[in-house]
Amino acid sequence: MKDFRFTVMLVMLMLTIQTIAQPRISIFFDHVAEIARQENISIQDAAQRVRLLGVEGIDVRVSINESQMKMLDSLGFQHASAIADINFVKGEQPEAVRQAFDFMHRYNYSRLLVIPGLLPENASAGLMDDVCKRLASFVKEANAEGIDVMVEDYDNPRSPCYNTQTLDRLFAASPQLNHVFDTGNYLFCGEDVMTALHHFRERIHHVHLKDRKAQNDRASLPIGAGIVPLKSLVNELLQSGYEGWFCIEHFGAPSMLEYTKQSANNIKAAWKSPSFDEVLSTRRSIRSYDASKKISEAEVRELIKAVQNAPSWANQQPTKYYVAISPEKLAAVQDMLGGNKERIINAPVLIVSTFERGKSGFFRGQQSNEVGDGWGAHDNGLSDAYLVLKARAMGFDTLIMGMRDADKLRELFSIPENETIMAVIALGYRAAEPRIPTHKDLDEMVRFF
Ligand SMILES: Cc1cc2nc3c(=O)[nH]c(=O)nc-3n(C[C@H](O)[C@H](O)[C@H](O)COP(=O)(O)O)c2cc1C
Repeated sequence: MKDFRFTVMLVMLMLTIQTIAQPRISIFFDHVAEIARQENISIQDAAQRVRLLGVEGIDVRVSINESQMKMLDSLGFQHASAIADINFVKGEQPEAVRQAFDFMHRYNYSRLLVIPGLLPENASAGLMDDVCKRLASFVKEANAEGIDVMVEDYDNPRSPCYNTQTLDRLFAASPQLNHVFDTGNYLFCGEDVMTALHHFRERIHHVHLKDRKAQNDRASLPIGAGIVPLKSLVNELLQSGYEGWFCIEHFGAPSMLEYTKQSANNIKAAWKSPSFDEVLSTRRSIRSYDASKKISEAEVRELIKAVQNAPSWANQQPTKYYVAISPEKLAAVQDMLGGNKERIINAPVLIVSTFERGKSGFFRGQQSNEVGDGWGAHDNGLSDAYLVLKARAMGFDTLIMGMRDADKLRELFSIPENETIMAVIALGYRAAEPRIPTHKDLDEMVRFF
């Protein structure tokens, strides 16, 4: 019975944890190029601006050139999905297949969206069968190479993947084929977006978010400004454990940069953040991190901004943070954490937390009571508490580490002598569910009088 209760509690906790991931936002490289054209800036500057809007992933055609890929990598874009035109309507396409595979391997992309061409008017049923067969054998071959193949609902009635009905046929022929769920295209073919989402949920590995003013209106809109039920869609997917990307799509936007900004903000705002109790109960010390998930400087800034609300002695705000986010600094800090190194090896951010002495607990330079600089440590702990809880609310995980080499950290970050170095905090995404620690009886902690 006890075991059963424990299992139920564990399952409930895991379900709560699943609801907490934030939407990860990506964008088509074509949109970035369009921003560069419209704003009359370089593609690199455009990409940088997009990155600062909180867009972390990039969706590219497999024909993109190497220097552009290098530039995107240098800006820290994660590889969301690759797109290949492989015209299975026309027949086998060995050359296009080889190009797609080469690209996927060279740049370590795992999700591939295939556009399989258009059927002729009044195509025979036999032709659709052929397309199904060619696609099915391609999926097998790609899966064997570790590639996840997807098709989207495509806004052309002649497409073999036009709507739920035709997609059902493709999926029946290829059980391992997955789906890029394109919101705007479901509107275009006259289907209800949420019904289609429920129908294909298990196969949805990527999402193209595209909005429309009305079902038959193909004009471009920022995502969230039209009729797509963005809130329901984002929350249902995340709550059911979706870990893929939400790709911004608005081809033809008159101001691509402005639209992108609005879209990114609307997607983030659509997400229902976890309740305070969920944050408290799912925050745990995490000792193994997911190497594939990164955290941007913009996200760390958002996190520390929340920490600024922490209380401190006479509002002295003695806490300082030194953030290792570049590969070189991360590697250096990892070596200053003793036995913790293996636990945080894949954390994308390490934060050194210090406090300025002689601030909290002091009045006009005089120590106010017996605790002295202990108040600085107190305030630093409060700030760190805000940090780990806000991190959890943003879908991140943390490990506070007291085991660290303070002298080496001081040298690495040129930390002034009047600051006491306290913890190093790892920030990242959990790779596995943590052990739940036991807690003392409440009455050992609290006494009422
Ligand atoms: C000040 C402080 C220092 C800590 N130092 C370490 C550390 O060096 N290594 C580690 O693995 N965990 C460290 N922890 C994590 C604690 O072991 C952990 O908070 C505790 O076991 C309770 O588990 P929970 O955080 O999952 O609730 C530290 C925690 C705090 C608050």
